[in-house]
Amino acid sequence: MTEPKLRNAIPMPEGIIIAPSILAADYARLGAEVQEAEAAGAIWFQVDVMDGHFVPNISIGVPVLASLRPVTSSFLDVHLMIENPGAFISAFAGAGADLITIHVEASRDLRGDLHLIRGAGCHAGVALNPATPAEAIYEVLDTVDLVLVMTVNPGFGGQTFIEEAVDKIGTIRDMRSETGLAEIPIQVDGGIGPETAPIAAAAGASVFVAGSSVFRRPAGIAASMRALYDSLSVPSRG
Ligand code: DX5
Repeated sequence: MTEPKLRNAIPMPEGIIIAPSILAADYARLGAEVQEAEAAGAIWFQVDVMDGHFVPNISIGVPVLASLRPVTSSFLDVHLMIENPGAFISAFAGAGADLITIHVEASRDLRGDLHLIRGAGCHAGVALNPATPAEAIYEVLDTVDLVLVMTVNPGFGGQTFIEEAVDKIGTIRDMRSETGLAEIPIQVDGGIGPETAPIAAAAGASVFVAGSSVFRRPAGIAASMRALYDSLSVPSRG
């Protein structure tokens, strides 16, 4: 008898996606900020989980995800910047993750952990730090639903976009076609704003994680979302 799935994940949204990263949101009013971004067209949010080991910062965990889940029907993308991610997959799936992304640099059994994520009923993503070559994920491309190319070294919001990471997006795009897995979206994360999103899009990215450029700009959340959609020449969904 197969184990009941911990999560019945929402189908992964397609097309050009602006995914606000709640790391930059005001946690005192997190639900309201998420709903404000949804009113401006957001349908996908990234939840950054940091353990103070894999990255030099500590952020949030399962309780925040579990609190957020009931207030939004949007796609919740959990980015695990933690060591030994396999040990935490069922907890995040149970708390409402739709996508769980783990780092190739952190997993001791990458294919095994990716199977664990799918087995829990979530979409599986694999992330690469800026210094990690694209080839590091070639062997698991057939086991993922998304590839995350970090455009900053993970650990903090508000950092500067690393241009050198852009070539890797192109390499992964080519790898995808070679392996007949063209449907797997390439996500970028770190220093993404109206100035840098078009650069990543031209290389092949379609999902744009944005923290400070959504939640920390004086113009406010709605205008900031619109500026991002405009920079990618796509109509806002709001
Ligand atoms: C950093 C996180 C990012 C971060 C992005 O390690 O993975 O999601 O929140 O923030 P900005 O968009 O401000 O660079």
